[in-house]
This record gives sequence, C-alpha cells and structure tokens, in this order.
Amino acid sequence: MSHLTEKLDTLYQRHRALSTNIDWGYHRLLPWERGRNFNDHPWAPDQGTLSPELTLAVETAMLTEVNLPWFTHGLSTIFESGPSALKQFVHTWTREEDQHARILDVYLLLSRNGDPDARDQVRKTVVETGWQAEDTDPFALMVYTSLQELATRVFYLNLARSVEDGDAVLANILRALAKDETLHYTFYRDATKAYIEEDPSRLATVCRVIPKFVMPGFGMPDFTRRIRVIGSHAGYGLPAYYEQVLKTVQRFWGVLEHEMSSTTRDARLALDKYLYRMRRVISRTSSPVSG
Ligand SMILES: [Fe+2]
Ligand SMILES: [Fe+2]
Repeated sequence: MSHLTEKLDTLYQRHRALSTNIDWGYHRLLPWERGRNFNDHPWAPDQGTLSPELTLAVETAMLTEVNLPWFTHGLSTIFESGPSALKQFVHTWTREEDQHARILDVYLLLSRNGDPDARDQVRKTVVETGWQAEDTDPFALMVYTSLQELATRVFYLNLARSVEDGDAVLANILRALAKDETLHYTFYRDATKAYIEEDPSRLATVCRVIPKFVMPGFGMPDFTRRIRVIGSHAGYGLPAYYEQVLKTVQRFWGVLEHEMSSTTRDARLALDKYLYRMRRVISRTSSPVSG
C-alpha cells in the first residue's frame, strides 16, 4: 500500500468516527407543530417567519442540495479508478448529504416560508437539469469539492446568524448542516494536501481550479439574482468568500507560499491575477479587505 493510499484510508476512518459523533436525524430538528394542510389552509405570503430575501437564501440552499443524485453520480464516476477510500467516502458522504435538502424543504413547508407551488416547480426543474463536474480529473475534483464544502459551511453559518432573530429553529437546523459540511471540507482539504505533498507540481491544478470555481447550484433559475440577494442579506457575498473560504484553503495548502516551478508558474501567475481582480472588485463595492 502506498503512503498516499494509507493516508487516505486514515482520513476516511477519521471521518467515519467524527461523523458518527455528530450524527443527527432530521425528524428531531423540524418544527412539526407548525404544520398545516395546504388544501384546507392555502398558503399566503404573510404566513412565513422570514423576509423574502432570507426565504430566497434558504430556498437556494435547498435547491442546491436537492441535486444530490447528480453529485453522487458525478463524484462516483470520476473517482471510479481512484483509491478505494475516496470511493467509500462518496458513499458515506451521500448518506450524510441525503437529509440536507429534505430538512430544508420540509422546514420551508412547515414554516410556510415561500410559495410552495412555485418552489415545487423550480425544484423539479433543477433536478431534471442535473449537474456535471466542470473537470473530470479526480484531483481537480477534490480541490473543487474542498472549496465547495467550505463555501457551503460558511454560507450556512452566516445565514444562521442572519435568521437567528426571526426563526431560531432554522438557525439550529443550519448549524447542524454546517457541522456536516465542516467534516466534508476537512476530509477533502486533507486529502488534497496529501496529494500535494506527494507531488508538489499538483499545485498547478489547484491554481487552475480556484479561478473557475462556481457553486454547484449555478445552473438553477435566477442564480445571479439569488447570489446577489444572499450577498446583501445573508452575510455571504464576495468578501465572505474571499476572506473565509479562499484565504483559508490557500493558506492550508500553502498555495501562495510555495516556490513557483516551471510546471506551476503559468497557473500561479493566472491565479495571482484572478486574486488581484477579486480584491479590486471587493474594495470597490465594500469596506476594504486585507490582502
Ligand atoms: Fe450539504
Ligand atoms: Fe457537504
């Protein structure tokens, strides 16, 4: 067994132990007492507990999570020829992600936040559209999923803070989801690091994936408006992505500290340009961020 395979096995076993410790069931977190029959008590916009903007943010989270069948399909296809720990992780990860869309969807129905008929239509469109990974290289996908899991974690925690006063039950649900996302991120982050340690020229792939990153829900209707509303009302815009996601993973993998080589130079210079542009956009649109 190679050192890398051994390391991935250890990371997978650690994930299983940690996720067992924080395991939760969606039936215990939902406010069932708020439920009413939609046929006898039709939905009206004033019945919810959240503003339209925060409702849109929760709906966007649900509409992203609901594509799990396609994420599982994509990940298991791309990791097919990879180490067995990665393939096993996709199974365990699917088990954990399985209740994410469901708890958000049922919460929205019980709390009467958002039009259930309109949402039902969008959800069906999203699932029918599906999802495909941008890159079919297993290592590039690991870099992508590290960013995506951390981005989702930060989004849920920031959204939890924004909804706390309006609906503490929802804040609690979002924090339970964020704990799962933290462990998912940790697995992919450490797996990526192990691959980089085995072959530092893989940093070229890291530098190439970062500028192309978009959240997996980017294909859903109205995505650009949703992102804008989430940025202005749910505490998760470009500054949060830059400070809490990008800088965190870059620091952990030593992306910017690593000396450039002939294989990493072009990708690294393109990344530097991308980060420079991002900092300029952020400083033009909000309070200054540190470099
Ligand atoms: Fe999730
Ligand atoms: Fe996740």
